[in-house]
Amino acid sequence: MIYAQVAYAPRTVTPINASAAKLIGMMMNHRGGKRILMWTACLAHFLICGIVFSVSSGASGQKNFAERWNPTRVPPGVTFVGDKVCAECHEGKAASQARSSMGMAMESIKDSKILTEHQKLAFRNGPYSYEITRKGDQSFYAVTDGKETISLPILFAFGQGKAGQTYVLQYDGAYYESLVSFYNETKGLDFTIGQTRDVPASLLGALGRRLSKSETLSCFGCHATGAVSGSSLHLDKLTLGVKCEACHGPGGGHVAAGKAGEPNAKLIFNPARLGGDELTQDFCAACHRGAGEFASLKGMGVNNVRFQPYRIFNSKCYSDDRRISCAACHDPHEPLNADAAYFDSKCMACHAAGGNTARAAAKPNAQASAPACRVETKNCASCHMPKVELTGAHFKFTDHYIRVVRPNEPYQN
Ligand code: HEC
Ligand code: HEC
Ligand code: HEC
Ligand code: HEC
Ligand code: HEC
Ligand code: HEC
Ligand code: HEC
Repeated sequence: MIYAQVAYAPRTVTPINASAAKLIGMMMNHRGGKRILMWTACLAHFLICGIVFSVSSGASGQKNFAERWNPTRVPPGVTFVGDKVCAECHEGKAASQARSSMGMAMESIKDSKILTEHQKLAFRNGPYSYEITRKGDQSFYAVTDGKETISLPILFAFGQGKAGQTYVLQYDGAYYESLVSFYNETKGLDFTIGQTRDVPASLLGALGRRLSKSETLSCFGCHATGAVSGSSLHLDKLTLGVKCEACHGPGGGHVAAGKAGEPNAKLIFNPARLGGDELTQDFCAACHRGAGEFASLKGMGVNNVRFQPYRIFNSKCYSDDRRISCAACHDPHEPLNADAAYFDSKCMACHAAGGNTARAAAKPNAQASAPACRVETKNCASCHMPKVELTGAHFKFTDHYIRVVRPNEPYQN
């Protein structure tokens, strides 16, 4: 998918990382600071990339991770206890998180709902024919030009198909992203987003896109837990999906303290202690991508609608305020809440009530200092966060650039 175009630069968690983030946070406290942020973030990026720090393991290392954890920068040697252990004490969160899209960001081939429900899927591109067929617990991805055929077992299925599902294959020692993906809207195969629609020059080209080592690391770093540490891939340690320790870091010390009756020893990272910017532009943006990558994301045009931290940063609503952070509107432990009233309450945390209720509701909340809407009193997101259909994505993404949308305006980038 499109993400893979930006190379993954493995980094360790460093003191510089934390202070750079704080500096970024300071720069962003007032709106005028936004432009400065971009430069600061770029500068910080180069500084961090240039220097490799080693992180001590053992008890003191655990403590560091409890203060600062970057979900896509897992240092070498870190071990996870696994979400089943977390579920022993956090039963409710574990159950609901497992039903969320993030918890299901990869499917096992054996239990894949999509692959078992569709025993045979087919697609044609010029001289090439594609087929995905089910045989027992496995699914095979085959492409033929009529003379020769490459048929491979599907190793990994990315996404549970809310928008689509893309397959990862192995050929001649290298990983490939399937040229065609399953799309929920059409219940069939079509080109994978970001891949060429031209007729490939060779059968191998028709199979899919060969993933470089860094792309492979970044795919598994965003969709799985425990598969990447340092700059190496450990598929034997992989748990499918974004699970507890992907976001909270290694939990061994916390579990031991919990079992010893000291759960409040602060031995695990809790993002609740992050400021709004840190949470949105650093933590969630580690996978959802944000303002720190301004230059490369802006260049993508409408395709950057998928990068919510980047989009929301453009909005006049946006600041370091926790009420406009990703976690204000989305509980990462729950499936996506699509209820309009739920989101209205989030807007009303800052905006005064509008319409006829304006006078009656004077100062309902001292914090509600942002202006009221003159047009409507409910379903705020339906007008101010429009759905954008990307060509070929078979899915409408929600534009997180909150604003007054003018009729027929071009994409606001
Ligand atoms: C930058 C932090 C952040 C991330 C990451 C994020 N959101 Fe959303 N988000 C929404 C709404 C509304 C939807 C659409 C829900 C629906 O109708 O399905 C949505 C949908 C999504 C989706 C589903 C895909 C899509 O495009 O519909 C993702 C992913 C997402 N948000 C991620 C309101 C918000 C609000 C509320 C002010 C904030 C803040 C917010 N979102 C901040 C964030
Ligand atoms: C032996 C029981 C136990 C196990 C196992 C356990 N926890 Fe906890 N955890 C607790 C208790 C008790 C608290 C404090 C009360 C609360 O916040 O629910 C806590 C608190 C937390 C907090 C907030 C910490 C803070 O400093 O604010 C996080 C985050 C957390 N747990 C994540 C995890 C994760 C991730 C796992 C699996 C790696 C896990 N827990 C396993 C018992 C446990
Ligand atoms: C380790 C990477 C990672 C991190 C960190 C991460 N996400 Fe996600 N998120 C994903 C992936 C991958 C998906 C797509 C899952 C799918 O549909 O298969 C996703 C999907 C979502 C969705 C869409 C849910 C739906 O049903 O459509 C929301 C909302 C979301 N993330 C919010 C957040 C918030 C809030 C944070 C920060 C607290 C966050 N994410 C941090 C990887 C991540
Ligand atoms: C930087 C983190 C990141 C990387 C790298 C990444 N993804 Fe994703 N992926 C996400 C997030 C976040 C979402 C949810 C928002 C969206 O749909 O864009 C997502 C969504 C998807 C979806 C749609 C899921 C659904 O349920 O509809 C598929 C399929 C997918 N990714 C496949 C891949 C493949 C294959 C690779 C590697 C070639 C990859 N991704 C690399 C973060 C990432
Ligand atoms: C996508 C990232 C993500 C995943 C995956 C995730 N969490 Fe969290 N968790 C967060 C964030 C963000 C917060 C802070 C929420 C806030 O500030 O509102 C949090 C807070 C917590 C807390 C503390 C609650 C509090 O009120 O302080 C506990 C306990 C916890 N998570 C447990 C878990 C467990 C158990 C799992 C696995 C089942 C899990 N988390 C998976 C992001 C995640
Ligand atoms: C953290 C507080 C906060 C939250 C939460 C918030 N806003 Fe705002 N919003 C603001 C501020 C501050 C402004 C700028 C007001 C000004 O310029 O006078 C603003 C401006 C706006 C504007 C005018 C933008 C423009 O370009 O002129 C719209 C429309 C808007 N918000 C809608 C929403 C909607 C819809 C939601 C919920 C999905 C929401 N806001 C959530 C604080 C917030
Ligand atoms: C039917 C579509 C629609 C809905 C629903 C809607 N708005 Fe609006 N909103 C608009 C339009 C159109 C404007 C621009 C009006 C103008 O320029 O006179 C606007 C203007 C605004 C402004 C800018 C006000 C100013 O004076 O600068 C804010 C803030 C705002 N809306 C917030 C909200 C909130 C919060 C909600 C939910 C309670 C909401 N809107 C629901 C269409 C809508």
